[in-house]
Amino acid sequence: MPRLVFALLLLPAVAAAAPPAGQLLYQKNCARCHGANGQLGANGAHNLTKSNLNAFGRTYLVTNGMGKMPAFGRELTPAQVQQVVAYSLTLR
Ligand code: HEC
Repeated sequence: MPRLVFALLLLPAVAAAAPPAGQLLYQKNCARCHGANGQLGANGAHNLTKSNLNAFGRTYLVTNGMGKMPAFGRELTPAQVQQVVAYSLTLR
């Protein structure tokens, strides 16, 4: 088998093994209050698996904070906020 074809066949496996950026950002910035599964509820955090907020609302909240939820607009770039919000929406 030509080497290039072999390398292309391996690519999807490598991509699947690395956790997506949004998940890493979530573990680093959100899990201490919300928990890895979104249900921890530490420091008054809401259960993310029960949240009805859509991506737009979550982006606003994560960027600007609310109550005891810190604002991440300074620590995370808009692209990172988008990634972590997208990951939070997968918690069910
Ligand atoms: C210091 C603890 C803390 C951290 C860290 C934290 N949160 Fe929160 N989060 C809260 C609290 C407290 C609330 C409830 C805010 C309120 O309504 O007053 C909340 C609410 C939310 C909500 C709204 C849920 C709903 O529908 O009521 C979302 C979505 C959310 N957080 C996502 C995140 C994401 C994503 C991160 C990481 C970037 C994060 N949070 C980091 C404490 C935290």
